[in-house]
Amino acid sequence: MNAPESEVLKVELLPIDDEHNIGLIACLTIDRPDKLNALNAGVMDGLKAVCAWVEAREDVRVLIVTGAPPNSPAEGKRAKPHAFVAGADITEFAGAGSEVIRVKFTDNAVEALWNLSKPTIAMVDGFALGGGCEVACSCDIRIASDRSKFGAPEINLGLIPGYGATQRLERLVGYGKAHEMIMTGDMVPADEAHRIGLVNHVVAPEDLRETVVSMARRIGSKSSHALRVGKEVVRSALDESLTDGVTTEAAAFAGLFDSEDKEIGVQAFINRETPQWKHK
Ligand code: COA
Repeated sequence: MNAPESEVLKVELLPIDDEHNIGLIACLTIDRPDKLNALNAGVMDGLKAVCAWVEAREDVRVLIVTGAPPNSPAEGKRAKPHAFVAGADITEFAGAGSEVIRVKFTDNAVEALWNLSKPTIAMVDGFALGGGCEVACSCDIRIASDRSKFGAPEINLGLIPGYGATQRLERLVGYGKAHEMIMTGDMVPADEAHRIGLVNHVVAPEDLRETVVSMARRIGSKSSHALRVGKEVVRSALDESLTDGVTTEAAAFAGLFDSEDKEIGVQAFINRETPQWKHK
């Protein structure tokens, strides 16, 4: 089953291990660099289709999401800046009323990304604004280049975020900083984004891909069954009380003791071998 690519979305498949066939990393590139990879209807439909495809492909173990780098500028024109995603495509907002937007934003691609059971990493190089910041916040891990900038500038359009930043950005950076970002629309540079917990790591642009792929490979080489259970339990911390969450963890932890991968992992440690996961 091939990846559902389109004019505005590319999917590259990378092996987790060059020697052993243990699965793949899918690297999804949002490819509208002339519009700073803004999320138009085509990108959103495609992103949703790719999420369904990643979920269905058993051998795809990790998803990386990124934005295309700028094209070389046309003669006499200035170069466009680097962008992860500079937000929802604002031209699609012109003249739109609530009925249109309600349909567009209900059950959208950012939720599909958030709901993936597999690990996801946002590889951010440049502007991650509005919906771009929200795509990044819907991934499990964010790694950015030091020239990246994050922000929720919807207030400048007379709007508020619509792809989950009031909730997911708030969970990452806290109540006060989320209010500041959403109320001012100010951009947060990468080093500050790191300091406030919005991104996990900041690296030089030339080291970004290697850093992200290397982490994706480390994650992809683990038991996908344990990863799935771990992601579900960490997610439950967002909605449950601490007491309920600890109970959820205890049940999930005990449940893993009936998995094939737990015995494979434990025996491999004892025998000083590399575990050959069954992913079950
Ligand atoms: N939707 C649609 N088009 C967008 C866009 C968006 N969110 N963000 C950028 N673009 C387009 C611009 O219109 C421009 O297109 P053009 O060259 O055909 O005129 C192109 O991308 C390059 O952007 P430009 O504004 O010229 O680059 P810049 O370096 O001067 O500024 C930004 C970069 C990111 C500061 C600026 O593009 C911006 O503020 N974008 C909107 C961010 C936003 O409000 N996002 C939230 C949307 S809800």
